[in-house]
Amino acid sequence: WILMVTAQSPTNIAVIKYWGKRDETLILPINDSISVTLDPNHLCTTTTVAVSPSFDSDQMWLNGKEISLSGSRYQSCLREIRSRANDVEDEEKGIFIKKEDWENLHLHIASFNNFPTAAGLASSAAGFACLVYSLAKLMNVKEEQGKLSAIARQGSGSACRSLFGGFVKWAMGNVRLISKDTNGSDSIAVQLANEMHWDDLVIIIAVVSSRQKETSSTTGMRESVETSPLLHYRSKEVVPKRILQMEEAIKTRDFTSFASLACADSNQFHAVCLDTSPPIFYMNDTSHRQVLFSCLQDGSQLLIINYMEKWNRFEAMPQVAYTFDAGPNAVLIAPNRKVATLLIQRLLFYFPPSSDTELSSFVLGDKSI
Ligand code: DP6
Repeated sequence: WILMVTAQSPTNIAVIKYWGKRDETLILPINDSISVTLDPNHLCTTTTVAVSPSFDSDQMWLNGKEISLSGSRYQSCLREIRSRANDVEDEEKGIFIKKEDWENLHLHIASFNNFPTAAGLASSAAGFACLVYSLAKLMNVKEEQGKLSAIARQGSGSACRSLFGGFVKWAMGNVRLISKDTNGSDSIAVQLANEMHWDDLVIIIAVVSSRQKETSSTTGMRESVETSPLLHYRSKEVVPKRILQMEEAIKTRDFTSFASLACADSNQFHAVCLDTSPPIFYMNDTSHRQVLFSCLQDGSQLLIINYMEKWNRFEAMPQVAYTFDAGPNAVLIAPNRKVATLLIQRLLFYFPPSSDTELSSFVLGDKSI
């Protein structure tokens, strides 16, 4: 026999960024972060997990290619979920798996991203959220979503936020609780508001490069923690206030505050990257790459920022937000469909897509226009 579960998880875009860990193994951050989870139909991971007595080892395929599960991040997620497994019965198929059997049964996992892996589109976020969620369903794990988020967090920090829709905060947890006998179990994601709360918002992703980024988030943030004085100032003095302001902006649907906080936080995150030694340049990292918007060759993100800053200063234009993660793609957030349509028209006019590229359109994260 074989028993299977398939699940789909969307990616999320941080508007107050997570950058820096205080514990690398448990993946505990040095500050809280807030994100928006995209509509699962757009940028998502689909994962099928299967169990059968005929499988003789745990195996995983990502986008059709076998990958190793021996890394500590995969192992942590598998171990944590297995230890919470329960009895599973499928009457139709006549299958009964006892709680204690899970330790000896092996899994086959097949995962697909419908967007470029490791190009700064938070594929690890959707990937680990989906892995943990589908395994929990397969093994009849009864933990609430917050507990599952703490497991997904051990796969990739940002993954914990993808277990919820809408607006999500990843609470860093109590720093004093980290000692040998604690496991950072209070560092979990919580939903601030569901996807219906502010459903006018439209998220537009301009895919500038689908290539793999040069400095992974994991390595980048380790180097920032070790060398950037700005990061430590940011995590202690700036982010705690911004988190409160962002929570308020979301609660009251105050787009002006939401946009200025998101833009400022993205810019400070990239300033931290520059303050790292050696400096990390996520912002103009596209020069040798296949660039999907033809005139966005060198320093394209800076051009977009410039354009958006001018747009926001021009009285007649309604405000929009921009944010950039650890990769070159631009994420723009418009307050409603009308503004999003106008913005897309202007962007396509000023930054026309090149003819020889596959991903030359904007992907709407929230709703199609
Ligand atoms: C810039 O979650 O990918 O996107 O925890 O090491 O797997 P690891 O890092 P990851 O980092 C994401 C960083 C970011 C900001 C954010 O999503 O908050």
